[in-house]
Amino acid sequence: MYLLISDNLAEVSVLRYGLAVILFVLHPVYGDVSYSIPEEMKRGSVIGNIAKDLGLESGTLSARKARIDTEDNSVNYCGVNVNTGDLIVQERIDREGLCAKRASCVLKQELVLENPLEVHRINIRVQDINDNSPQFKEESLTFEIREMAAKGARFLLDEAHDGDIGENAVQGYSLQQNEHFKLNVKTKGSGRKYGELVLDKELDREDKGELMLLLTAFDGGSPRRSGTVVIHVIVLDANDNVPVFSQTVYKASLPENSPLDTLVITVSATDADEGLNGEITYGFDDVSDDNQVFSLDSKTGEIKVAGSIDYEKESSYEMQISAKDGLGLASYATLVIDITDMNDNAPVIYLKSLKNPIPENVSPGTEVGIINVQDRDSETNRQVRCSIQQNVPFKLVPSIKNYYSVVSTGQLDRELVSDYNITITATDEGSPPLSSSKTVQLSVADINDNPPVFEEQSYSAYVSENNKPGSTLCSVSARDPDWRQNGTVVYSLLSGEVNGAPVSSYVSVNGDTGVIHAVRSFDYEQFRNFKVHVMARDNGSPPLSSNVTVSVFISDVNDNSPQILYPAPEGNSFMTELVPKAAHGGSLVSKVIAVDADSGQNAWLSYHIVKSTDPGLFTIGVHSGEIRTQRDISESDSMKQNLIVSVKDNGQPSLSATCSMYLLISDNLAEVPELKDISYDEKNSKLTSYLIIALVCVSTFFLTFIIIIMGVKFCRRRKPRLLFDGAVAIPSAYLPPNYADVDGTGTLRSAYNYDAYLTTGSRTSDFKFVSSYNDNTLPADQTLRKSPSDFADVFGDCDESPEVGTYFK
Ligand SMILES: *[C@@H]1O[C@H](CO)[C@@H](O)[C@H](O)[C@H]1NC(C)=O
Ligand SMILES: *[C@@H]1O[C@H](CO)[C@@H](O)[C@H](O)[C@H]1NC(C)=O
Ligand SMILES: *[C@@H]1O[C@H](CO)[C@@H](O)[C@H](O)[C@H]1NC(C)=O
Repeated sequence: MYLLISDNLAEVSVLRYGLAVILFVLHPVYGDVSYSIPEEMKRGSVIGNIAKDLGLESGTLSARKARIDTEDNSVNYCGVNVNTGDLIVQERIDREGLCAKRASCVLKQELVLENPLEVHRINIRVQDINDNSPQFKEESLTFEIREMAAKGARFLLDEAHDGDIGENAVQGYSLQQNEHFKLNVKTKGSGRKYGELVLDKELDREDKGELMLLLTAFDGGSPRRSGTVVIHVIVLDANDNVPVFSQTVYKASLPENSPLDTLVITVSATDADEGLNGEITYGFDDVSDDNQVFSLDSKTGEIKVAGSIDYEKESSYEMQISAKDGLGLASYATLVIDITDMNDNAPVIYLKSLKNPIPENVSPGTEVGIINVQDRDSETNRQVRCSIQQNVPFKLVPSIKNYYSVVSTGQLDRELVSDYNITITATDEGSPPLSSSKTVQLSVADINDNPPVFEEQSYSAYVSENNKPGSTLCSVSARDPDWRQNGTVVYSLLSGEVNGAPVSSYVSVNGDTGVIHAVRSFDYEQFRNFKVHVMARDNGSPPLSSNVTVSVFISDVNDNSPQILYPAPEGNSFMTELVPKAAHGGSLVSKVIAVDADSGQNAWLSYHIVKSTDPGLFTIGVHSGEIRTQRDISESDSMKQNLIVSVKDNGQPSLSATCSMYLLISDNLAEVPELKDISYDEKNSKLTSYLIIALVCVSTFFLTFIIIIMGVKFCRRRKPRLLFDGAVAIPSAYLPPNYADVDGTGTLRSAYNYDAYLTTGSRTSDFKFVSSYNDNTLPADQTLRKSPSDFADVFGDCDESPEVGTYFK
């Protein structure tokens, strides 16, 4: 129990030291008594013995109805134990509740006694005890501090409150140990203490975004009490960090021809700042217009293909990329994209030179052309192999770099293959390989290397004699496979002789068609066959030629009548055979000898007696021509015997000749008195007179004819001559073929036979004139050599059969 009787604190301190309580009796009656007590004493605790202090008999208290009252009927904090006289605590005494911060807190109570009424005032000084802890208004204090805040920046902290006063009130603060802040404690004018946060070390939001600091306020009581508050420091971001790329150089490789939107690489940068300050935007730093092949997503940093990627155009890209935060702080990185080659370019074949056309006679190994192969790809994709198709006589010879020579490998022959389509294929070594091909058209130029070749080894022509000049004998044909004039064939005769005459007088050949014509009429009796050589020559330079033999075979025509050699038809002296009178039957008397220039059947002669003086006397051998007696000669037989013998050949139609044979049956020629009479029997003289008339007519006609022809010739002398100088073959008088005189060596290309028949009487005589249409037929020097008198002689003197025919050619 503490009894305070002092008015000041010094007294209290005395109490504390446990010194003896000094009681002062200030006012014995009606006097006041004071106590000093600590607050918050328990109910019933004894404050002091008021009876003693007031000097009252303790026994009287109850009798005098001692009680505690208040002046203003407020709460009775105290009570009095009437038995003991102790003043006791009756209600809780809270100094803070009663007096708050007032430094002295006095409870005024009154002790009322009755009988007699006495009122004593009791002053109870309530002493503070440290029963309240310092307390902050809020549980936590929040500070938002920019990280840029400078060192030394101060932040005022809320005061802590303590209901207690004096020493028991807040005496100081302490701050939890930390690296950024210090506490600065200050005292207000009122003595109250407060704190300030002082920034001791700069904040870094990126390092520590918020701090929790415990601030403790403590009082000076004993035991000391304290209260805490949490200081929540939120560090506000400042844009103090640049974005940082994860790499300074980004490398990527991309195959060419990658499709659009192919992701190439993703770049990323980080910014330690937050919010806008940390919001990164990517971009190309140095985008040039021609480099729009990539896109960069400004948010994600994905780099994608946005254009066509062609290794051949650009094999590598280098770009600066930037990352910027919201407030424009930027950093940069380099992006290198290497493009890898794909085999996307086929080789291209260029024809650098070409010899076209090439002559067919080039030797194998001749360079014909040069090609160049290019491939725009790189490395193995540009390695090119070149080949040429198999079936042509050309090959490729690799030359420097990608050049190749096209070289012939064999002999060319335009006549076999005149055009080549050479396909050259180039293949690169990429995977898959690409290839291309080029067709080169080559033509082979002609060289005159083929002579004309006749279709047959030799030719034979068959022609009947007496053919018309100009008639076709046969045709030859030769082929030359060369080109144009090198293959154009011209035919010609090779010079030569046939029977001593130039071959051109016999035949001619059409230079263009190869048709061989007879130039003249052939006579089997002169020659039966002959050979000519025909040459076929091309028009090349030099020309090539070949020749062929054409054999002309002339076949016989029955154009010669039998020719009677004996008895001789010539002369007037009629041959007379003597037949001995004593000739027996069957004895050979004479023989008719005849020949025929024709051959074979045409020359097979048969003899017949057509008329005889005594038909039974003589007979003739059909084939031998021997005249024999048929019976013995008798005296009665006429001395003069006359036979007319006809000789026929076996031709179709057959030709014949007749002759007269005079036989004199006599042993002595002198016995023949009138030889001439034999020939002039009546019939014969008549015939002779006809012949004479006929001869006169013919002669007259012939003379006239000659004159006309001469006249015509003079008129047309200046006319140009034809290719072959016409000349007429004038036969001599009728002669056996063996003695034939063939006049004129020229040939008639074409001739017309002009036949005139003059008949005297009953087929006595036929004259056949053959004339030419040509004016020049009868040149002056080659007119009929025989004068009309010759003819007259021939015909007049010859007592021939009525069927004598003479030819004039
Ligand atoms: C070559 O090609 C041309 C044109 O394509 C064609 O007319 C010709 O017939 C060909 N020649 C050969 C020999 O294939
Ligand atoms: C014919 O051949 C010659 C070489 O023999 C040649 O020079 C000429 O060009 C050829 N003519 C034709 C039309 O091909
Ligand atoms: C014609 O052919 C013969 C043999 O066939 C030959 O001897 C001769 O030289 C050739 N003449 C010509 C001009 O070609």
